[in-house]
Amino acid sequence: MTYESIQVTPLTPTIGGVISGVDLTRPLSNQQVDELHTALADRVCIFFRDQPISHEDHKRFANYFGGIHIAESTAPWRVPGHPEVTIIHADKDSTFVAGEDWHSDMSCDAEPPLGSILYMHTVPPYGGDTVFSNMYAAYDALSDRMKAHLDGLTAMHDSAVGFGGITPEGMKLPRHSHPVIRTHPVTGRKCIYVNKGFTTAIEGIPAAESDALLAYLFVHVQHPMFQCRFAWQPHSIAFWDNRCAQHSAIWDYFPNTRSGFRVQVLGDTPH
Ligand code: SIN
Repeated sequence: MTYESIQVTPLTPTIGGVISGVDLTRPLSNQQVDELHTALADRVCIFFRDQPISHEDHKRFANYFGGIHIAESTAPWRVPGHPEVTIIHADKDSTFVAGEDWHSDMSCDAEPPLGSILYMHTVPPYGGDTVFSNMYAAYDALSDRMKAHLDGLTAMHDSAVGFGGITPEGMKLPRHSHPVIRTHPVTGRKCIYVNKGFTTAIEGIPAAESDALLAYLFVHVQHPMFQCRFAWQPHSIAFWDNRCAQHSAIWDYFPNTRSGFRVQVLGDTPH
């Protein structure tokens, strides 16, 4: 892949690219936006350093990739006056953190977000990394027999599981069915689309069979060969493609504080 208006440094051979040559506190050129689209499609997750963005900068950046997805279930954590921006925060008083288990954001929604853009302004002195896994690579590594078996199946994604135990009063709890193997609308590649955070059952097969298959897939997608690990610094940004990536936020920094804001880009119905 060649770029003229940005630089992309791969984090691992399989996934992740650190972008330089852009200032996200200002509007981007059309060429930069086009090349960032290419970098996201190629690297699955892209990362930026030293970008002290405002909420308006954050929303402008998200809008280069489509509209903004406002998930019903983020209502308790929205920034006042900026419903598009969700607070991602943990400190000494926290009893949970968002996204601790492997998941694809809001896969419980009918049209889950295309991607998530997380800006971190405060980071713990050590720890608090996020790990990402490439679901194309996870699919490619399945045997042909397993691919044939999974193709055409659907699974239920339920936010009552995803947000189990942390559901403030009045929070909406969507659940929707999606293909177990989806085809990415931009790259045309197949990827695994079941995740431990939200997927409860593969439909149309006995519960015991579904449980066994999901247990296998939830472990399979975490293989280190599919992964990269991002170490946050103040004003870092991670932008991941929820259609072909899963991620997990590691809560190893308690009682320290880690704090940031997330904006999600509108997606479509998984096929
Ligand atoms: C999330 O799952 O969106 C949060 C990820 C993180 O805090 O690193």
